[in-house]
Parts: sequence; C-alpha cells; structure tokens
Amino acid sequence: MQRIWLTVAAEYLYLQPEMTPVIFRWYAREAISFSSRADLAKAAAHLADEFEALAGVDDSTPIGFFCRVGASSRPDARSVRKSVGELLLEPELSPQP
Ligand SMILES: Cc1cc2nc3c(=O)[nH]c(=O)nc-3n(C[C@H](O)[C@H](O)[C@H](O)COP(=O)(O)O)c2cc1C
Repeated sequence: MQRIWLTVAAEYLYLQPEMTPVIFRWYAREAISFSSRADLAKAAAHLADEFEALAGVDDSTPIGFFCRVGASSRPDARSVRKSVGELLLEPELSPQP
C-alpha cells in the first residue's frame, strides 16, 4: 500500500483513500450493528450493493482498500509531515543529513 501511494506521489499524482464505503459495506455484509437507527443499516446495505456493482464483485469478495487516484492542484489542507527523526521511537537511529 505504501509503495503504491509513494509511486503515485512520485508521478505527481494524488491518491485519496476512500475507506468509508469499505467499512460500511463490511458492517452491512457481516450484519454488524453500528447504529440504533434501522434506516442506516438499510442505507449501508444499499451502499454495499452499489459499491459491489461499481467494483464488479459479488458480496463474498473481500475488499480491504479503495481509493481514487488522479491529477490535481496541491490540496490546501494537508496532514502534518514529520521528519523521519520525529517519527522514530529511537531518534539516534535517524539517518544523518
Ligand atoms: C486509513 C485512512 C482512511 C481514509 N479514509 C478516507 C475516506 O473514507 N474518505 C476520504 O475522503 N478520505 C479518506 N482518507 C484520505 C484522507 O482524507 C487524506 O486525503 C489522505 O490521508 C491524504 O492526506 P494528506 O494529503 O493531507 O496527507 C483516508 C486516509 C487514511 C490514511
């Protein structure tokens, strides 16, 4: 997944994960209750049907990741990019500049 995302970025494209349909399809297909409102369970089942039609799969096909990829101007709002040193639990292992 990381390799795909980084390759997309290296090609000056943008990748946006779209996990909401994956997660609500999972709730619907596994009959997991996520709300006391019955209409929302029905909506999730409808979403699952549409998502499977779009993906060309049936309800038994596992889907673990879904995203869109395309050309775009740079988004204004971005996640904070930390340096490798800030991300490491043992900063002394950080590559030296
Ligand atoms: C685990 C995960 C799940 C995500 N799910 C969604 C989603 O369901 N819908 C959506 O619009 N973006 C989703 N995103 C994408 C983020 O909104 C964002 O575009 C992405 O993390 C890149 O952000 P950045 O460009 O600020 O680094 C998800 C991102 C991650 C890491």
